[in-house]
Amino acid sequence: MKTILVASSKGGAGKSTLATNLAAYFALDGKRTVLVDADPQHSSTRWAERRAEMESAVLPIDASSKRAWRAWLPDDAERVVIDAPAGSMADDLQHFIEHADAIVVPVLPSAMDIEATVGFLNSLSKVSRVHKRQLPVGLVVNRSKPWTNTSQQAVEMLKTWPYPVVAQLRDTQAYVVLAGLGRSLFDYRSAQVRDHQADWDPLLKWIKKA
Ligand SMILES: Nc1ncnc2c1ncn2[C@@H]1O[C@H](COP(=O)(O)OP(=O)(O)OP(=O)(O)O)[C@@H](O)[C@H]1O
Ligand SMILES: [Mg+2]
Repeated sequence: MKTILVASSKGGAGKSTLATNLAAYFALDGKRTVLVDADPQHSSTRWAERRAEMESAVLPIDASSKRAWRAWLPDDAERVVIDAPAGSMADDLQHFIEHADAIVVPVLPSAMDIEATVGFLNSLSKVSRVHKRQLPVGLVVNRSKPWTNTSQQAVEMLKTWPYPVVAQLRDTQAYVVLAGLGRSLFDYRSAQVRDHQADWDPLLKWIKKA
């Protein structure tokens, strides 16, 4: 079983977007996938409910008020994706971090968002397994507009941080539309969607290695 925690204290950075798309990717890859929703907003639970009839359904588990979330995991779960709530630092997420095989942190490419994420990353660096490099942390630049100076400067700034930038996902309305349908980028095959799927390749490779 592989467990991926998607987390950042910064609101609206793309945690649920990353968590739901990752969960769909694993399910479409034939893995029994659980989406642990740690956010009382329940965005990813509603998303999973919308795809409940699909062959690549994922099982949602509400962990927003339960520390004993692992008791709800089916024995045959192969992939677990955890969608963390905004406002949580590493200490608040300890009961997820201790079971994680990798932590993915989405960051929007703006000075304000980057500054707001520093505190969260500092809190992660105090986690013993992170500090000893036993638990990898990867940054995902989300809603990137690669043709703009702002996005380019943000990526350059993030590359100086002690955690690798493992993907840059471009800004596209597709994520907004698909979230509302209980779908993911990986449910489609059109040329335009495939182009955006390619943004995920380095992240998926990094997760495979983790
Ligand atoms: N790459 C993207 N391109 C365009 N829109 C995006 C992208 N990623 C996320 N969004 C949109 O941005 C909004 C915030 O994303 P999301 O809900 O995933 O963030 P979050 O970190 O889970 O927020 P919260 O902290 O409230 O839980 C959503 O409307 C989502 O559809
Ligand atoms: Mg969310």
